[in-house]
Amino acid sequence: MEKDYLTIIKLGGSTVTLKNKPLSANLPVIMELGKIIKQITTPLIIVHGGGSFGHHFASKWGLSTSPQNANPKAIVETRKSMFDLHLLILESFSKSNVFPYTLPPCSILDGDQLSPFTIKFLNVLMKNNLIPITFGDVIVDQSGAYIISGDKLMEIISSSLPVKKAIFTMDVDGIYENTSSGKSLADTVNTETVLYGLNSNVNDVTGSISGKLNSSFKIAKNGIDVHFVNGAYPDRILKVLKGRSYLGSMIKGDDQ
Ligand code: IPE
Repeated sequence: MEKDYLTIIKLGGSTVTLKNKPLSANLPVIMELGKIIKQITTPLIIVHGGGSFGHHFASKWGLSTSPQNANPKAIVETRKSMFDLHLLILESFSKSNVFPYTLPPCSILDGDQLSPFTIKFLNVLMKNNLIPITFGDVIVDQSGAYIISGDKLMEIISSSLPVKKAIFTMDVDGIYENTSSGKSLADTVNTETVLYGLNSNVNDVTGSISGKLNSSFKIAKNGIDVHFVNGAYPDRILKVLKGRSYLGSMIKGDDQ
């Protein structure tokens, strides 16, 4: 694969679901995202989050990002909710002629890296005009059962493949900072940025905004620009990809 070639997009759970209404997909937004993704011409890998599907059951059952000896029902119920959401996304995207190829995290990971087979396979999929898609899920290994977030998957993908841009969609316009004049949207974010409203979502078992930023700083350390845009205005994704100005925030690659 050419260097600096690939775009990775995480469709945040707050974008594809109604965060405060259990098991409710945000179908109009998913539909609009599909139309925009259809227009992306660079190779692309999509990751999506759990929102009011996966997080609902993970918090009901006390699953977290730390491995534990979990009830099989907890694992299956949480995973099923992710598959339900995933199917809604596939159905909606196919109406825009967007054809993703589903790869649950357990099928692509070798520990906390992409397996060598996966790297080859992802290339094969993209050459066949398929968009690899994965999602936050419950992983089971020797250490127990734990949640892997879509943000962590973005981090893992970007450390193994020649990613040029990473985009996170959110339900707000980007990352907000505390300034002397109050809350303001940060054009660029770095480790010095004083963030506004950390950990505002108590039902998020994977760390909400601080978890996202943690993963994003790691992605940026690989020299990849990381962008945050409001998923309800998906045309902003196209602006990012065309290098145009957009409403949102970014972490500059290599900046840290
Ligand atoms: C969560 O994935 C997956 C489960 C809870 C099973 P994410 O942590 O990536 O989801 P969002 O984007 O924060 O909703």
